[in-house]
Amino acid sequence: MMKKEWIEKGFADEPVEKGIDLVGEIKKLCRQKNAVIMAHYYTDGVVQDLADFVGDSLALAQKAAKTTADIIVMCGVHFMGETAKILCPEKKVLVPDCKASCSLAESCPTDEFSRFLADHPGHTVISYVNTTAATKAMTDVVVTSSNARQIVESFPKDEKIIFGPDRNLGSYINSITGRNMVLWNGACHVHEKFSAEKLKALKAAHPDAKVLAHPECKEEVAQLADVVGSTAALLKFAIRHEGKEFIVVTESGILHEMRKSCPDKTFIPAPPDDGACACNECRDMKLITLEKVYNTLKYEWPEITVDAAVAEKAVKPIHRMLEISEKLGL
Ligand code: 13P
Ligand code: SF4
Repeated sequence: MMKKEWIEKGFADEPVEKGIDLVGEIKKLCRQKNAVIMAHYYTDGVVQDLADFVGDSLALAQKAAKTTADIIVMCGVHFMGETAKILCPEKKVLVPDCKASCSLAESCPTDEFSRFLADHPGHTVISYVNTTAATKAMTDVVVTSSNARQIVESFPKDEKIIFGPDRNLGSYINSITGRNMVLWNGACHVHEKFSAEKLKALKAAHPDAKVLAHPECKEEVAQLADVVGSTAALLKFAIRHEGKEFIVVTESGILHEMRKSCPDKTFIPAPPDDGACACNECRDMKLITLEKVYNTLKYEWPEITVDAAVAEKAVKPIHRMLEISEKLGL
């Protein structure tokens, strides 16, 4: 039933019947089709509330690998759907807007990365999960921000390593492990926008607040943080810490779960450097709406596909990551 104009738009653009109980209808479709809805912490709060499972990139991959559902609706960006599809080739993987992309994955074009690898022979290639399937196919082991440190440290100290595509995560891991990995020069446009100056001013205004930052932030920003970690790690810290006030230096979608989990605590989003708004949003994550989830399930489109030859290579470094993570209890 897929229409030509949907391809142009990247989603099944059909008006939803007025007055319909969207959440109820989505749940009904999930039951009928044995579908599971997974969402990343950066998606809109209403999408997170609807999902059967909400998590960081590692947890989403782990959950996808184990699900018994026939259809996975991945509410997140394209590479998250691709990772799920590579892990579960026999399942239908749907992303409600297939134009939901990732600036970090895009900062690593396959041909340029391939030339970079050729210029550095004899290196082990470690890639962040925020990459295309084609980049993963050139990789020895995939990491997420939840396990990057431990996976890098699982290699001998003198291992020659290329790390891509995020230069900020890579240099952060170099700094805490004492490694000297060769870094690909990529970045996330959302996290690059946080400014050390604005963060210093916010800290001065809230001297008791603990600062939680994602490792995709620039070094001078991460250095101001009390804790640097993945979305799941930042959430866990906020839940466990006795402090009452937290400055959050990552995409603002995570505030939804933080406020839900800790209603007695205050979470203050760090602003981007351009001052255009009070918080920092990933516009691609916010492309996922309830209407699109409904139409995606109804029409079973857009479906993620991965070239079989690419998938065959890309699945190895993803499995390697999952195996190491399981061994380490991550
Ligand atoms: P997490 O793995 O920490 O959820 O991060 C994903 C991401 O895209 C960060 O920008
Ligand atoms: Fe990609 Fe940045 Fe959005 Fe994360 S926040 S999905 S790294 S563009």
